[in-house]
Amino acid sequence: MKPQTVDPPRARLPGAPFLAWQGGELQLEGVALDQLATTHGTPLFVYSRAAILAALAAYQRGLAGRDALICYAVKANSSLAILKLLGEAGCGFDIVSGGELERVLAAGGVAGKIVFSGIGKTPAEMRRALEVGIRCFNVESLAELDQLDRVARDCGRVAPISIRVNPNVDAHTHPYISTGLKGNKFGIAHDQALQAYRHARGLPGLRVTGIDCHIGSQITEVGPYLEAMDRLLELVEAIEADGIPIHHIDFGGGLGIDYQGESPPAADALWAALLARLDARGHGQRALVIEPGRSLVGNAGVCLTEVLYLKPGEQKNFCIVDAAMNDLPRPALYQAWHAIVPLREAAPQSATLTWDVVGPVCESGDWLGRDRALAVRAGDRLAVLSAGAYCMSMASNYNSRTRAAEVLVDGSQARLIRRREQLADLWRDELV
Ligand code: LLP
Repeated sequence: MKPQTVDPPRARLPGAPFLAWQGGELQLEGVALDQLATTHGTPLFVYSRAAILAALAAYQRGLAGRDALICYAVKANSSLAILKLLGEAGCGFDIVSGGELERVLAAGGVAGKIVFSGIGKTPAEMRRALEVGIRCFNVESLAELDQLDRVARDCGRVAPISIRVNPNVDAHTHPYISTGLKGNKFGIAHDQALQAYRHARGLPGLRVTGIDCHIGSQITEVGPYLEAMDRLLELVEAIEADGIPIHHIDFGGGLGIDYQGESPPAADALWAALLARLDARGHGQRALVIEPGRSLVGNAGVCLTEVLYLKPGEQKNFCIVDAAMNDLPRPALYQAWHAIVPLREAAPQSATLTWDVVGPVCESGDWLGRDRALAVRAGDRLAVLSAGAYCMSMASNYNSRTRAAEVLVDGSQARLIRRREQLADLWRDELV
């Protein structure tokens, strides 16, 4: 992620055209965000239904005419209303825990469209996923193959599996969100994959159905995907030559979004390039699975926050807001950059200063944006943009802060999809 830079007061809006200025006010679809903050309080996450569906439509266009299943990566934003929206629009789901499985089912998701990724599935999670009949387990180690075989035989089922291959491809992204390199904990090394498939073939509780990879997140180039595809197809050919049919190829997720002027390929352009490569290598008929998360929801959401205090100083000016690293952990965790803009246009005479926008949490790492040019006063409200992915789903209760409320906007309508957490919720499960 790029270094901090000054945000021009009238920056481009990632999230446009669904996010736009109307009569001096920031609106998401047809809803004025300042009014929503008044109604529901802050911090408040607000998502655009149309923006999510438009992002999905780009994938659907790109994969039109192919046997392809888009499995939304639940971890990006696991709120039930978002899952329901994507499920009803035809998505399957990529899950990484028993909790995500239950969320998908609670939101009406179809078990037969769920793929289960992750390196540490417990026997109980495996059993439950087998009972409900998920589409595929993406297995990440030999030990997991053996465990899944035992669990499946134990409950009289056969587990459909893919092996997640670590193709050793550099996705050119932040080290914490790069997953397809040899040093990462994910997947089975490319040069051990064939052996792992041979092992899986011998296990009666397993049925090989596919192959899987995921090389990282916030990827902004086509190159790493093409490289991973080449590496995967080599393997598919070797595995099939060995007599093990591979039904589907799962290419994972990872497509980046525009936070700060990045220009990742559009989902349909990415898939045009990938399908061309598949066709050229004679694999055009393959069933495909993909696992996009961030690119479906990231730019469909914003987080609204109110300025509590201004604290100008000798070295730094601090703009203290009521959202913090517990609500928006990405800046603290990855030095991530999110645009921050006011909800109302500043009065013409107001002065623009450079501010560090920080939260109330007692950590110096609790900042949302550094060196941002803003004309702000206490009581003003700001929007942290590109906050639809990996914000609410990573939110915590650190400093005993309750988690924010969430609203889904549809045209001129706004619907509360998560009530603000109540203080008593925080110690509900504690024993004195
Ligand atoms: N499939 C698997 C197996 C994954 O591990 C991930 C993300 C995805 C799909 C979805 O990737 P996406 O399309 O969203 O890039 N918290 C970090 C991102 C972590 C991503 C982890 N894996 C962040 O805020 O940047």
